[in-house]
Amino acid sequence: MATVAYRNIVKSYGAVRVMEDLSLDIADGEFAVLLGPSGCGKTTLLRMTAGLETVTGGDLLIDGARMNEVHPRDRDIAMVFQNYALYPTMPVWENIGFSLEVRKLPKAEIRKKVEAAAAVLNLTDYLDRYPRELSGGQRQRVAMGRAMVREAKVFLFDEPLSNLDAKLRAQMRMEIRQLHDRLETTTIYVTHDQIEAMTMADKIVLMKGGRIEQVGTPDDLFDAPASLYAADFIGTPAINLIEGAVVDGAFKSAGIHLPLPPGTAATAGQRVTAGLRPSDMTLGAAGSITGRVVLAEKTGVEQNVHLDIGGADFVVTAPRDVSVRPDETVQADIPPQKIHLFDSASGARL
Ligand SMILES: Nc1ncnc2c1ncn2[C@@H]1O[C@H](COP(=O)(O)OP(=O)(O)OP(=O)(O)O)[C@@H](O)[C@H]1O
Ligand SMILES: [Mg+2]
Repeated sequence: MATVAYRNIVKSYGAVRVMEDLSLDIADGEFAVLLGPSGCGKTTLLRMTAGLETVTGGDLLIDGARMNEVHPRDRDIAMVFQNYALYPTMPVWENIGFSLEVRKLPKAEIRKKVEAAAAVLNLTDYLDRYPRELSGGQRQRVAMGRAMVREAKVFLFDEPLSNLDAKLRAQMRMEIRQLHDRLETTTIYVTHDQIEAMTMADKIVLMKGGRIEQVGTPDDLFDAPASLYAADFIGTPAINLIEGAVVDGAFKSAGIHLPLPPGTAATAGQRVTAGLRPSDMTLGAAGSITGRVVLAEKTGVEQNVHLDIGGADFVVTAPRDVSVRPDETVQADIPPQKIHLFDSASGARL
């Protein structure tokens, strides 16, 4: 169990600075997810935490102790990689117990720890198999078992599910989260998949270009995105973004008039972008938005109705039994408190 803190972290590769003044606190036992697009610095931050990459500036603290120069072996951290990095010539039990063999623990003790981990991970019947004889999900579990037996203070995961198919990914993300709830080991989990972040995290750290854009619970990021970038990154289907201006105490753009959300800081004449989540909208006989139906995508549970509004694509999520026909003109509406407003120039939430 441990806290992890980053204080004004800077990272350069040679002359190229990829991280600037990053500060973040991860609480004891927390499941934190680093989320962001390719190249934003997620792996770099994880590798610096593990000691596989040097820290150029600032302080990395684990349980309050500065770790910048501490050898990876002495940080008490276990990392699970995207490709699992299993040893192909070792059976499962040896893969799981290898780090303990290296530390020269007694054979009986290793066996006990490996068996305990295997029981938790449903691998008991597979201990004598080789990695090539396992499914992707089972290999993933072996990689987790290896981290578990080390009884590390912090678990680091770098996109551990990206090699699995959609169904297995959904199952494994539940398994990893349940494992966390049982062990309560502080965990930092990297992904670029916002669904993974939303379903697994206590705390989401949304990153952009080596900086932190927003930190909060999944609900914080969904309900109160701090910027256009955050709004656009979270939510499937993506939030509808409409550029307009504040005129006569309302939001106006070509063809769309909306009331201002209560308590907004938007001021008269300001160029603003309205963010409307498809799931917050309803189709009906009357509404502040009028559009032409382009198509309805059925997802099984519901349908995503695409509207053409002045040439722009606009999505409304509706119950599956609402009947809409292509080319039909429909109305859509949203409660004012569900409207997100952002300054169009800075992207900041208003
Ligand atoms: N060894 C390296 N040498 C030089 N630049 C690097 C090195 N490793 C990473 N970078 C750069 O640092 C930035 C952050 O890379 P990083 O691998 O941390 O991104 P990421 O968020 O993990 O992306 P992805 O989702 O693609 O894995 C990128 O601009 C990348 O090109
Ligand atoms: Mg990466």
